[in-house]
Amino acid sequence: MRYKILMALREASPEFVSGEALSKLLGVTRTTVWKCINELRTEDYDIEASSGNGYRLVSKPGQLNGFETAYRLGTAIIGRNVSYFDMLDSTNSYAKKLATKGCEDGTVVIAGRQTAGRGRIGRRWESPQDKGLYLTVVLKPGIPPEKIQLLTLVASVAVVDAINTVCGAGAGIKWPNDIILDGKKVCGILTEMNCETDLVNFAVLGIGINFSQTADDFPEDLRDKAVSLIAYLQNKGMESKIPNRLDLVRGVLTELDKGYALLTGGCGDKIVEMWKRRSLTIGREVSIQHRDGHYTGTALDITGDGRLVVSCSDGAIREVLSGEISVRGLLGYI
Ligand code: BTN
Repeated sequence: MRYKILMALREASPEFVSGEALSKLLGVTRTTVWKCINELRTEDYDIEASSGNGYRLVSKPGQLNGFETAYRLGTAIIGRNVSYFDMLDSTNSYAKKLATKGCEDGTVVIAGRQTAGRGRIGRRWESPQDKGLYLTVVLKPGIPPEKIQLLTLVASVAVVDAINTVCGAGAGIKWPNDIILDGKKVCGILTEMNCETDLVNFAVLGIGINFSQTADDFPEDLRDKAVSLIAYLQNKGMESKIPNRLDLVRGVLTELDKGYALLTGGCGDKIVEMWKRRSLTIGREVSIQHRDGHYTGTALDITGDGRLVVSCSDGAIREVLSGEISVRGLLGYI
């Protein structure tokens, strides 16, 4: 209810909306309207009340919330439903629960902090309060499981484009989906899926962006491998480009919506092409730690379903779908 009132105030802003108009619009009493206004005030909306004129939105909260993230986002699928929580164990875990209950395609879950944030390969993702952005999108792309890597490519392209558009940084991608600024990781993506033999029922796409950490905020073993967006911009003398969290999240969702349309529209080749243009992996020396061995070589290309093609030093050409790769010059690998 209070969000319907907020919507009306938002649309009318900076003009007043009378209490009577609000109660008629929503079919509730003036007392209910007044209670909702007070609830919104506790959520940091500054709402002026004037006895002759009604209510007027003076300012909105500085910090992220679900309403502001979704408000007039203009996307087709992603972000029509956005839930924000001050704290969750993991946005991916919560999103999976929502997906199991049948939530809408494109539902977004955001947390101010995570107590059990998860990274790839069973790692932890440190998620201190408001230092990073922690969000997950539930997707139902209607694709077979072997195409899921394309979703990961879509996500990394979306984050790179959002970062570069919102603040003019020069981010790129380390295969498959680490987002890199100046050789250090600024964002990680964890895609998990629930599928049948030939169909992905749903995927949860978890995105963790290092936003305002200083070097000391990262665990010691990550200090030469991780950077936050703000630290990067400060280091480049680009303070004026520091975005707010809301603009960055909205940028990511907007870009993701474009990429998701390509994926569901069967434009895999275009996705691979876009990914390659942002790649920091192709043409570089790589070291691959795989279940069945360790290889070094040069990354040549990626296949139509997102596998990395590597010309290995033992003369073999291998296609890698998963595993840990190090790229010379990135994340401290020299
Ligand atoms: C990686 O290891 O690079 C992937 C990290 C993904 C972290 C994000 S934060 C939001 C979402 N919720 C999680 O528990 N993990 C992902």
